[in-house]
Amino acid sequence: MMITIGGGSSMDTGKGIGIIINNPEFADVRSLEGVAPTKKRTVFTIAVPTTGGTGAESTINYVVTDVERKRKFVCVDPNDIPDIAVVDPDMMSSMPRGLTASTGMDALTHAIEGYTTAAAWELSDCLDLEAIKLIGKNLRKAVANDPDGREGMALAQYVTAMAYSNVGLGIAHSMAHTLGAVYDTPHGVACAMMLPIVMEFNAEATGTKFKDIAEALGVDTTGMDQAAYRKAAVDAVRQLSIDVGIPTKLEKLKEKDLPFLCESAAADACAPGNPKHATLEDFEKMFRKLM
Ligand SMILES: NC(=O)c1ccc[n+]([C@@H]2O[C@H](COP(=O)([O-])OP(=O)(O)OC[C@H]3O[C@@H](n4cnc5c(N)ncnc54)[C@H](O)[C@@H]3O)[C@@H](O)[C@H]2O)c1
Ligand SMILES: [Fe+2]
Repeated sequence: MMITIGGGSSMDTGKGIGIIINNPEFADVRSLEGVAPTKKRTVFTIAVPTTGGTGAESTINYVVTDVERKRKFVCVDPNDIPDIAVVDPDMMSSMPRGLTASTGMDALTHAIEGYTTAAAWELSDCLDLEAIKLIGKNLRKAVANDPDGREGMALAQYVTAMAYSNVGLGIAHSMAHTLGAVYDTPHGVACAMMLPIVMEFNAEATGTKFKDIAEALGVDTTGMDQAAYRKAAVDAVRQLSIDVGIPTKLEKLKEKDLPFLCESAAADACAPGNPKHATLEDFEKMFRKLM
């Protein structure tokens, strides 16, 4: 039996270890990238998250950083899902403000990308919309270390993980993965910085979904036309991110790195789920907004 206690990094490390213990033919973790054809389940795992963001305690995937190749890759494998998840907000109460904010924005990115991803459907939509509502109500309070806010965020990150684990994400995650690998940008910070930029890019391919997102975040959309409610959804996300202290620019991002970052984001496992295809030029334009 294995008990994984920690944030997404610890739980993901446990997932990789458990899979390799029971499937030793995949001893090089790099051979597990993408949909891995393992035959046996991981060892019996109890996962205890201590951050309010990744939902890795219930998802189908784990993320590994290949330091040599400067890339983060995603392994997707139903055999890695922990047997028991213990989601207790008390385990998250020691998070400092910055970590609470960034992991909470990771959860919001899961919920919004999961709500608008190509494979989203009625059931995942219920979970993602509820998670967006919970995050809108609770993230600011959690950052202020309010116990109700912590509980709301513990629930939200778990609820949306049940959805995105089944339907996938989008290019805010693709771009966040490469920023994490190249500059060591914390995952939640990278997601939070990319999310409003990617929402603006995707808006035209999302039907009326941004109206639901705006309303879930507390915006009164009465009388708004499509352009107005789409802008309102992006503005609400941007405001929440600013309120919890996430920066909007990434000083480390250098011109010379752009070609690698764009190639890497385009090749990421989350990219095909995006509601709108992004070319290398599109990725470059979006990365430039962080400079
Ligand atoms: N498997 C998945 O489904 C999934 C989903 C999203 C992200 N991820 C991955 O998870 C990783 C990010 O995980 P994360 O955002 O949870 O952060 P993390 O696990 O990387 O932890 C960040 C830091 O916070 C510390 N920390 C953790 N809990 C704490 C607490 N309660 N109090 C004080 N400090 C604490 C850790 O020791 C670490 O230094 C990334 O690699 C990301 O790609 C995985
Ligand atoms: Fe994430």
